[in-house]
Amino acid sequence: MPLYATFPFYIGIHGGLVYGIFMDNPHRSRFNFGASNNRFSYFSADGGTLNYYFIHDSGVREILAAYTHLTGRMSLPPLWSLGYQQCRYSYYPHQKVINIARIFREKEIPADVIYLDIHYMDRYKVFTWDEERFPSPEKLITALRDEGFHVVVIVDPGIKIEPGYPYYEEGKEKDLFLKYPDGEPYSGQVWPGWCHFPDFTRPETRDWWGSSLETYLSIGVEGIWNDMNEPATWGQQVPNLVEFDWEGHGATHQKARNVYGMQMARSSYEGTRRLMKNRRPFILTRSAYAGAQRYSAIWTGDNVASDEHLMAGVLLLSNLGLTGMAFTACDISGFWGDSSPALFARWITVGAFSPFMRTHSMVESRDAEPWSYGETVEEISRNYIQFRYRLLPYLYSTFYEATQNGMPVVRTLAIDHPHDPQVYDKRYQYQYLFGDSILVAPAESTKEITKVYLPPGRWYDFYTGRLEEGGREVYAESPVARLPLFVRAGAVIPMQTVRNHTEEQITGPLQVHVYAGGDASSSFLYYEDDGETFDYEQGQFFRRRIRLTDHELFFEAAEGDYFSAYEEIQLWFHGYCFHEKDRVTMNGEKTALASATFRLCAPVFAADPLGIPYDPYGAVELPTAVFPNLRDSIRVTWD
Ligand code: GLC
Repeated sequence: MPLYATFPFYIGIHGGLVYGIFMDNPHRSRFNFGASNNRFSYFSADGGTLNYYFIHDSGVREILAAYTHLTGRMSLPPLWSLGYQQCRYSYYPHQKVINIARIFREKEIPADVIYLDIHYMDRYKVFTWDEERFPSPEKLITALRDEGFHVVVIVDPGIKIEPGYPYYEEGKEKDLFLKYPDGEPYSGQVWPGWCHFPDFTRPETRDWWGSSLETYLSIGVEGIWNDMNEPATWGQQVPNLVEFDWEGHGATHQKARNVYGMQMARSSYEGTRRLMKNRRPFILTRSAYAGAQRYSAIWTGDNVASDEHLMAGVLLLSNLGLTGMAFTACDISGFWGDSSPALFARWITVGAFSPFMRTHSMVESRDAEPWSYGETVEEISRNYIQFRYRLLPYLYSTFYEATQNGMPVVRTLAIDHPHDPQVYDKRYQYQYLFGDSILVAPAESTKEITKVYLPPGRWYDFYTGRLEEGGREVYAESPVARLPLFVRAGAVIPMQTVRNHTEEQITGPLQVHVYAGGDASSSFLYYEDDGETFDYEQGQFFRRRIRLTDHELFFEAAEGDYFSAYEEIQLWFHGYCFHEKDRVTMNGEKTALASATFRLCAPVFAADPLGIPYDPYGAVELPTAVFPNLRDSIRVTWD
């Protein structure tokens, strides 16, 4: 069903080979696979030229690199946008928003972002505020910033037709709207009633729109959420004869519809980049076309609070990852309808392993904050959100990869194993790698045991440290408090201690977890910068490869001018057995070994509405070592 976004790109797997086809034609397109009993596939479009790229390379990674070389890659997101994001349709008034933020801090559930959905506006008119609900938006945003929260506001394209409303007047005067062939602006109905729609394929409109965002940015808003930008209208489709500027060349809706949302996101991105000077904005869009990754993150739109949609969302994120869109998420808890406690809990655990993590739900649905479903769900939510914050050094480095080679954050197993039929099996198709080394096996909220396919290689159960041979299926316990997770042997996973939000002072060491048993090429590209500005484009970053072999971990000398925020490194050895405690050296010096308990999450001891009968978490006793985080190379050896 055609909904929000269009990516006329696919990866074919055929005769032991892989290839990519990108048809750069924004008209409505059709792709038909396996036609005539698998004799051929075809693609077509309603108009335009047959302009397509054939990409051949040795593997899916290489094809993604080529495709994103062509269509562009994302720039680094602000670190705060990788923290937990709380949204709903809609939080108001002022005091309600403050209270929600306060509860996160009181309950020590980490969070970085609060959203304002359409009710913040005066009768849904963009660039305005409802003065009763929000008498002083600037004060609100300052108060939230003081607590470490960033504010994202929704900004839809429809401009209300209302004489005297400055954006309507200006748009008309400067001829910035989509038009009928007779030159009259096109009208459609959306939230504010009858509206005109800015023509984002016209550079002047993009400039005007981008500059108009100043009204938000000047009071401290840092994120722009572009919704309804297909564009969506009530009760009708935009007629095909509606005219667009198309960068001065002219086009009709038939050609321009599929790029409208992306051009809106582009305008928001370019405007915020200009206005926020050197600080990174966060742009979120619902509609997109191939290449939108240059401007915006995307969410999967209005899903339903059901297990079916939880699982479908996982597949969507895997698929979006194959279209160059690395910065993606689904509405946790489901937009339409009410989640059950178990479904909410499961969704939070899966959401903790998505590129960004946002809970969102429909007006008049039940409350959907991490504490809204009772104590057990609250504890599960805290556990997994905290774990996400511990994992941020790994996640941020993974985003860096996306900026360099277009590799997604959610990686279907088909990327590394395109010819392994098991990864396409209906039972295993939901599994994915979160970054390089963490295998996530999502399951419905009702499923207490999940069958998992471990691809060839060796894998550690993340909770118990148990080593499993890959290339086969295993059973994993999966009560809602325990999302099945496995780590690749040879993995290097940098973590940190828990923080309440991403700007809280870093106190502990960089905790580097290494997992024994990889091959000679096991390594991780560690990347760090200020997480906030574009200074990294001028060399302000701290980047080094960390190589793991059987008896050695080698941190290459750091590249870039930035100084790491972590003074020390704490190594955690998984799967290693040390016979003699003093055989570990760091740059030739003996290093003391200690041991510590690694527990993924706190146990959920339940007086228990979900019927979780036990502490589902293993705790592993591991050898650890601490040493200074030198910029020069660091060689740690053991035997
Ligand atoms: C659309 C969006 C949804 C939003 C709502 C109100 O349905 O997809 O996320 O909450 O509009 O703005």
